[in-house]
Amino acid sequence: MKEIPYEEIPLMEEEIKIYKIGDDILREEAEEVKNIDGKLVDFVKKMFYTMYNNRGIGLAATQVGSKKRFFIVDLTLNQEPGKKLVIINPVIVESEGEEIGEEGCLSVPGVTENVKRKERILLKGISLDEKEIEIEASGLLARVFQHEIDHLKGKLFIDYLSPIKKALIIKRLKKQKKKEGW
Ligand code: CO
Repeated sequence: MKEIPYEEIPLMEEEIKIYKIGDDILREEAEEVKNIDGKLVDFVKKMFYTMYNNRGIGLAATQVGSKKRFFIVDLTLNQEPGKKLVIINPVIVESEGEEIGEEGCLSVPGVTENVKRKERILLKGISLDEKEIEIEASGLLARVFQHEIDHLKGKLFIDYLSPIKKALIIKRLKKQKKKEGW
C-alpha cells in the first residue's frame, strides 16, 4: 500500500457559500484543471476552512460554485492536523467489491441515507503541489472519493435512492429552504 499523499495546507479564514440542492451548479459537470495557480491555491485554503466550519469530511469545487474538476477531503474534521487531501482531475482507474454505507452531504442538509459504493478503488489525480498521485482507498475514504467525484459530474448521493424516496426528500428540503431562506 502506498503512502497517502497528505498535504500541508494553511487555512484561509474566509467562508465560501455552499450551494444546496435546487441550485443549478450542483448539476453541472466540472471542467479539467489545466493550471494550478495562486488563485486556485487560495480557493482551496478557503474551502478547507469552509468544510471544517460546516463539519464536512469532503467538499467538491462544484459545491462552492467553481466548475473546476477537483475536491478536498479530510476524514478527521481537522482533529488530526496534517490529513488534508486535494485531488485535482481525479479518475478512478480500478475498483472492486461493493459496500453499503451511510452518506450525507453539505449540499443536502440534514439527510443521511444508505448508498451502495465500490468497496475499494484506485484513484489517480494531481495534488495541489502539482504531483501525480495514486491512492488505494477502501472503506470510508473510498466512499468519500466516489461521492466527491459524483459531484464533479453533477450527481448527488440522493440520485441513488428510489424515485419515491428522492422525490420526498426534495419536497421536504424545498419547504425547508423556503422557510429558512438558504
Ligand atoms: Co456531497
